[in-house]
Amino acid sequence: VGPCVFISRSNLPSIIYTELNKLPVEIRMWKETGPMWGKQASPPREVWIDVFKNCVGAIVTLGDVIDRSLLNEAEKLFVISTYSVGVDHIDVKAATEKGIYVTHTPEVLVEAVADLAMGLLIALGRKIVLGDRLVRIGGIYDKWGWLLGTEIHNATLGIVGLGNIGTALARRAKAFDMKVIYWSRTRKPHIEFALGIEYRPLESVLSESDFVVITIAATPETRHLINEERIRLMKKTAYLINVARGDIVDTNALVKALKEGWIAGAALDVFEEEPLPSTHELTKFDNVVLTPHIGSATYETRERMAEIAVRNLINVLMGKRPLYLANPEVLSIRPLQALI
Ligand code: GLV
Ligand code: GLV
Repeated sequence: VGPCVFISRSNLPSIIYTELNKLPVEIRMWKETGPMWGKQASPPREVWIDVFKNCVGAIVTLGDVIDRSLLNEAEKLFVISTYSVGVDHIDVKAATEKGIYVTHTPEVLVEAVADLAMGLLIALGRKIVLGDRLVRIGGIYDKWGWLLGTEIHNATLGIVGLGNIGTALARRAKAFDMKVIYWSRTRKPHIEFALGIEYRPLESVLSESDFVVITIAATPETRHLINEERIRLMKKTAYLINVARGDIVDTNALVKALKEGWIAGAALDVFEEEPLPSTHELTKFDNVVLTPHIGSATYETRERMAEIAVRNLINVLMGKRPLYLANPEVLSIRPLQALI
């Protein structure tokens, strides 16, 4: 066998293992089971250090924190392929400096995440999850009145971050006869024109919208972008939905807003702390819908993400460009070379 390749979970779609099995590589895999939701635990630091010293490639995923101190241990490592679009769990800058290729899986999960965002929006507006809880408890509807909700059609959707996911959500919202406004770091006039949506400063997106959906990528600049001051700009009747990354919203500020009724409710698929402890204050509100980071979690999307993750890794090992390189600057720091 040839050089070693590490896979940080044993329960990823099987294509990852079958494709790597065809190659002259030694496959190392971490199998430990995780705390909940059928998710497996990230390997401990000793394992990572060994991998970074001895393996040429690693397939990793969310929850695997690859920081600068770990990257400093890299000797043989050439490529980190993450089975996710987000690369915020990896210090990409440090990886680039070390000449390590970081690849990811954008595009394929866009429609699945946009579907979930639309689902959360409707669940909030029409109190679907609360209604389900009440039906199961039975007989105590009086306290809740008629479960009157907010109409989705004719409501204003504000999108924070008009990347691929935000754009896919805008298309869905137009089909629901919503008015769509957005803020993004770069203005996208062609999308405004194509979809009939309007640009606003972030503050106006917050103050004008009935539903605010966060689809912006997590970077140091977007951490706590939605803070106390900005949540206060929202209408009392408006809902906040986050399908991007937990740390874009200041959780303490959101909890305060919910307690004091500055907004009507929230739906969150991502949290500053994942998994969210079941005792967390956020779980106490009836006007909050919580899902465990399932934006891309469909059979079809996860299968395609796995195909891309393994193709990205194999391409780099063969000295070819990966499908999606998160740090293209690395090409000039350490040129591609065939390793297998
Ligand atoms: C999901 O959050 C991803 O980054 O793929
Ligand atoms: C979400 O993670 C995005 O990249 O917009």
